[in-house]
This record gives sequence, structure tokens and C-alpha cells, in this order.
Amino acid sequence: MLLAAFASLGLTLASLTSASPLKPRQASHPDRFHLQTQVYPGINDSGTNKNGLFVFSYHTGAGLGMAAADPPTGPSDENSWFYFNDTDTGLYWTYTNNTIGPWPTALLYGPYQAFNPISISIAGEDATPGFFFNQTGLQSNLSENGWLACDWWYQDPQIFAFNGHLAGPLPTSCSRVNLVPVAVT
Ligand SMILES: *[C@@H]1O[C@H](CO)[C@@H](O)[C@H](O)[C@H]1NC(C)=O
Ligand SMILES: *[C@@H]1O[C@H](CO)[C@@H](O)[C@H](O)[C@H]1NC(C)=O
Ligand SMILES: *[C@@H]1O[C@H](CO)[C@@H](O)[C@H](O)[C@H]1NC(C)=O
Ligand SMILES: *[C@@H]1O[C@H](CO)[C@@H](O)[C@H](O)[C@H]1NC(C)=O
Ligand SMILES: *[C@@H]1O[C@H](CO)[C@@H](O)[C@H](O)[C@H]1NC(C)=O
Repeated sequence: MLLAAFASLGLTLASLTSASPLKPRQASHPDRFHLQTQVYPGINDSGTNKNGLFVFSYHTGAGLGMAAADPPTGPSDENSWFYFNDTDTGLYWTYTNNTIGPWPTALLYGPYQAFNPISISIAGEDATPGFFFNQTGLQSNLSENGWLACDWWYQDPQIFAFNGHLAGPLPTSCSRVNLVPVAVT
């Protein structure tokens, strides 16, 4: 609590002194949040609408899931959410009545791949450290080019880390997206 108070004080002071060369790196965020896609220009996506979707763990096996996103559905959305672990700077997904523990988010890696899938699994990879929020939403120090939402392997658009070398145009079933936190009540 004390740490959080200091953090938000720091942000306030930093934003007041706009002439300061020290830019706020972290932005405050709700304790429990949805990650909502916010499409920004870069690809003329000829596929499904990728704007305003909520990220979730798309079931791919027992305790395994991949980051995908679908439209908000209302009250049932309140039964699952992400939270940010300040200790290990990991991003975790959990849900009401979860008895097995939080599901860590992990950026997967493929050599020379322009973009990479994201695991949200309790029986999979450990949490990738180095996530933070700034004014444009979720950031990872391992995904400097941000995030993509693509019509890809699953029935819902899949979320990718755009963190590799781009050798050609991005697929037009993708949109570039920010992932902004939306409070869960
Ligand atoms: C998307 O379409 C607009 C309008 O046709 C065009 O001006 C723009 O260059 C296109 N952008 C990309 C990334 O293809
Ligand atoms: C946060 O991360 C630390 C270090 O990995 C871990 O010990 C702790 O249980 C985590 N807390 C939550 C709420 O995930
Ligand atoms: C959580 O567990 C309680 C008690 O068993 C139950 O009443 C409630 O419906 C459960 N909620 C969800 C979303 O599963
Ligand atoms: C990303 O941040 C994590 C946690 O602070 C750190 O361990 C890691 O070395 C950083 N990686 C890069 C590429 O900066
Ligand atoms: C947020 O961080 C990313 C990656 O470091 C950076 O590209 C972006 O400009 C930052 N946004 C703001 C508003 O500072």
C-alpha cells in the first residue's frame, strides 16, 4: 500500500513537471483488470474486427492456454481477470474460485520469427518478467514493437508479441493493437 502510494505520488509529480527530461515509465493501473485491444493504424486488416476485445487464455490443453481475445460479454467477464505482480513483474491471469493458482503469461520465442505467440498456462512456461504499463498500455521489455491481434490458429483472434525482425509485410488478417487495462469491478 505504502509502495503504491509512493508510486502514484511519483507519477503525479512527474506529470506536473512536463519540462523534466525524466518521463514516467510506469502508469498506474487497477489491481484487477481486463486487457482490452485498441487498434491503431499500421495494417489494413481485411479480417475480423480486432478492436475492443478482451484478452483471455484460450484453452489448448489441461492447464494450457494461449493469449486470444473476444468481445466483452457483460457480467460473466467479471469472473476472470489479469493482475500484475510487482514482485516478479509478471502478468497473471486468474478467475473466480480458482483453486489451482494464478496462470502466468509468457512470451514464447521462435528464432527469426517476426511475431510470437503468448502462453497463459498454469502447466506451461513460467511468467515472463519485465511487463509494465505506460500511457499506451501494456509493455514488455521483450516486445518493443508491441502487440498484434490476428485471425490465426484459433476461433478467436490470437494475440502475438511483435518482437522479432520483420522480413516482409505483416499479414492483413492482423491488426496492431495496444492492450489497455480496464478495471474489473
Ligand atoms: C491502408 O489503406 C489506406 C487507404 O486506402 C492507405 O492510405 C494506407 O496507405 C494503407 N495502409 C497500409 C499500411 O497498407
Ligand atoms: C508474485 O511473485 C512472487 C515471486 O515470484 C511470488 O512469490 C508471489 O506468490 C507472487 N504473488 C502473486 C499474488 O502472484
Ligand atoms: C464460486 O463458488 C461459489 C461457492 O461454491 C459459488 O456459489 C459461485 O457460483 C462460484 N462462482 C463462479 C463464478 O464459479
Ligand atoms: C526485462 O526485464 C526483466 C525484469 O526486470 C529483466 O530480468 C530482463 O533482463 C529484461 N530484459 C531485457 C531484454 O531488457
Ligand atoms: C510506452 O512504452 C513503449 C515501449 O517502451 C514506447 O514505445 C511508448 O512510446 C511508450 N508510451 C508512452 C506514452 O510513453
